[in-house]
Amino acid sequence: STDEEDEEDEKKGDKADEKNDLSSTKNDFKRPEDGGEEQTKEGKCNTEAQKNVLHSKSDSKQNVKKEEKISTCPTINIPVKRKQEIQDARLKLPILGEEQVVMETINENPVTIICGETGSGKTTQVPQFLYEAGYAHTNGIIGVTEPRRVAAISMSYRVATEMNLTNREVSYQIRYEGNVTEDTKIKFMTDGVLLKEVQKDFLLTKYSAVIIDEAHERSVYTDILIGLLSRIVPLRHKRGNPLKLIIMSATLRVEDFTENQVLFKTPPPVISVDSRQFPVTIHFNKRTPLDNYLNEAYKKVCKIHRMLPEGGILVFVTGQQEVHTLCKKLKQTFPVQSQSEKCGNTKRKKKGGAQKTKVENLPTINLDNYSVEPVDEEAEREGDVDSDLDLGDDGNLDDDDVNMISSDGESHQSCTEPLYVLPLYSLLSTEKQAKVFSPPPGGHRLCVVATNVAETSLTIPNIKYVVDTGKAKMKFYDKVTGVSTFKIVWTSKAAANQRAGRAGRMGPGHCYRLYSSAVFNDEFEQFSPPEITRRPVDDLVLQMKDMSIDKVINFPFPTPPDVEQVRAAEKLLISLGALTTPPKPVRFKDTKKDPVCRITPLGKAMANFPVSPHYAKMLALGHQHDLLPYVVAIVSALSVQELFIEFHTSTDETSEKSSFKEKIKFITQVKKLWAGKDHSLLLGDLMVLLKAVGAAEYQGCTPQFCDKHGIRYKAMKEVRKLRAQLTNSVNSVMPDTNLCVDPKLTPPTDLQAKLLRQIVLSGLSDHVARRYPDPPPDADEETKRKHAYQCTEIEEPVFIHPLSVLYKQKPEYIVYQYMQETSKIYMKGISAIEPEWLPVFASYHCTLSKPLDDPEPDYDEVKGQVMCHMTSTFSRCVWAVPAVRLE
Ligand code: CDP
Ligand code: MG
Repeated sequence: STDEEDEEDEKKGDKADEKNDLSSTKNDFKRPEDGGEEQTKEGKCNTEAQKNVLHSKSDSKQNVKKEEKISTCPTINIPVKRKQEIQDARLKLPILGEEQVVMETINENPVTIICGETGSGKTTQVPQFLYEAGYAHTNGIIGVTEPRRVAAISMSYRVATEMNLTNREVSYQIRYEGNVTEDTKIKFMTDGVLLKEVQKDFLLTKYSAVIIDEAHERSVYTDILIGLLSRIVPLRHKRGNPLKLIIMSATLRVEDFTENQVLFKTPPPVISVDSRQFPVTIHFNKRTPLDNYLNEAYKKVCKIHRMLPEGGILVFVTGQQEVHTLCKKLKQTFPVQSQSEKCGNTKRKKKGGAQKTKVENLPTINLDNYSVEPVDEEAEREGDVDSDLDLGDDGNLDDDDVNMISSDGESHQSCTEPLYVLPLYSLLSTEKQAKVFSPPPGGHRLCVVATNVAETSLTIPNIKYVVDTGKAKMKFYDKVTGVSTFKIVWTSKAAANQRAGRAGRMGPGHCYRLYSSAVFNDEFEQFSPPEITRRPVDDLVLQMKDMSIDKVINFPFPTPPDVEQVRAAEKLLISLGALTTPPKPVRFKDTKKDPVCRITPLGKAMANFPVSPHYAKMLALGHQHDLLPYVVAIVSALSVQELFIEFHTSTDETSEKSSFKEKIKFITQVKKLWAGKDHSLLLGDLMVLLKAVGAAEYQGCTPQFCDKHGIRYKAMKEVRKLRAQLTNSVNSVMPDTNLCVDPKLTPPTDLQAKLLRQIVLSGLSDHVARRYPDPPPDADEETKRKHAYQCTEIEEPVFIHPLSVLYKQKPEYIVYQYMQETSKIYMKGISAIEPEWLPVFASYHCTLSKPLDDPEPDYDEVKGQVMCHMTSTFSRCVWAVPAVRLE
């Protein structure tokens, strides 16, 4: 330990002595018996047996060199006076029997992993174990992270109650609110909050122990936190001020943490807590699941309530809106007089929360002066995605569906007690959330309609029946359009089993799966893939840089993203001006020499928007000249794949197959009309998108409207959702804007159209193409290239797609949305640009023969222009383009 003593003498101080004391007692470390708490003693039953289990499970721990196993734990014991009924309930939790094993492992190891079924007591008890062992009174406080706000809040109240402490001592912090004080000893927070704290204080010196809860969810924030903590823990150890890391998971699938040498050189010990679970009978639907799973869920609840014995019902749906829809319908069917709970309020809390942070009013929006807030992903995840899901059914029983009634010999007498329906989702107010934990009014049956927040984060008492739609809302990345969207998909087998398990906490239960066993076997993945593998890398790199994690490639991810993709993303972000330009040319071959590029103010602004960085830049610049409503509409449309039907599109979304070609002809005319006759407004295909969005809003986004105009109805609905979401993001980032989804999107002025083209160019600066000069008449090959363009991305000639409104015009310089290869390589989503804009809006791709501010520029007397060359690293095409001199 001489190395340690060399550095940071003053920081260590008396802590070094303390550590030596602890080392000497490490082998016979016992919780002091003088706490006088009979409950703690009772909690230690059958420890010997469990100790053996632990040791057999964590052989790796035994191989660790002796000196690494320095005991670095507090020596004091903090008594806790719990109420008798609380203590009785605690003693029933499986984790109580493991207290000594848990604490010995934590005391002897820097990192500990605890696996245990939902409801085994991990979240509520482990912080208490640490508290009693003195962790909150030595070297800092105890921090617990949750991926969901609802868990952070409710667990802080629960633990405070259990420990007989106030919320000054057991507190929570979520993005907009919290009750943390200087007396706080245990702090529950969302993973995003702790990430922000790492940015301010990398060593997390405020904490003596950090618990990462729900690690099995593998949210990107949790993954990044574990990566960061894998470095922070050894650093804190070196400084003689150790930090304990406890990773808690509801599943046993923790190899990504234990078998990842980059993350933890020594595999951390894994404690698995036995679950006390009653059998749950699984009932699959016989039929292939229907589209309207919400209606199926409704019918199932009605049947359970009318025909099965007492016991709470828990229904899993995918989002806040679905929760409300189903709650409303159930309440209408089973009206309860005493029910004070109102379900009608579907307004999100987000806006109110955002307003609290509207401190500064920016007179003009300046890119260097952005208030940077992370995108509210949780709100999105549970946002109103399914507003159009309609329960058009009265809930009567189908005869062929009585198979749900269990065949386990239970009595089938009908139940006439009223149904007490409660919603549960992340953004629900704390008081309303708390209702699910208290018993329903006398003689009522509890029915909780929940998002997957009830899957592992919260254990609702007295649930006997689980109704599982099998669906989950998941974030996906479209590689073509570069946009992240939430889709409703089948959940994983692991998640479905977690859901079923909720029915077996109090006694034998039943789980009704609204899908067939064939679908479960064939279409459900074993586990949901970690979020990081489902996320765009461009966006992820920007988000990490925004968190000041500059060396993304070297970052110890539990599951790393593709390295080449990360490098390409950095390059793109540099070219967009979101990251600082490295001092030397970027050499992507050698990892070690990768220059560190940091986020710029523009990048911070871009990081606010949940779209591809290409489009985020357009949004970041769009505040000028009242362009924002247009930019939001264009970006929404660009972010959704193929707004219009096409030749190769199957006719599944159009009603008449026969007149398909006719229709395409008609659509082309519509598009032309929307593009505008005036060729000076060469916003081209993007103008068409803009007009289509405006028209859909004005005339009503009906299937008839879409069919008539060749628009894919589904796509337009997505555009509208995204438009509303982006409008929200813009308003929270730029409080002055007060943007609303304008139903009458008046066409932009000529000047605005021109400026929009500049904004589009600035976002798609790597998607520029120039038409080849007219080919010589003799060359066959060249003739083929007649209408070809040269682009900066690939060597081959590329072409404007025939369905583009600029197909005939063929402007010399264009910017395109993306390329698609069919018989030729086609560019789609075309707008015309002026070449002299390139050095300004695509400056990264331009090499000027002389700087624009050179006192003696290369001035072309004939053309009256300053010359510059546009080069590209990929195709090395050199375009002499006129440059305007910047003032
Ligand atoms: O984290 P884990 O899923 O392992 O369990 P937990 O959240 O600590 O829950 C342990 C027990 O406390 C469960 O039986 C819950 O029902 C109960 N609990 C409660 O009654 N009220 C709360 N607000 C939170 C938990
Ligand atoms: Mg938990």
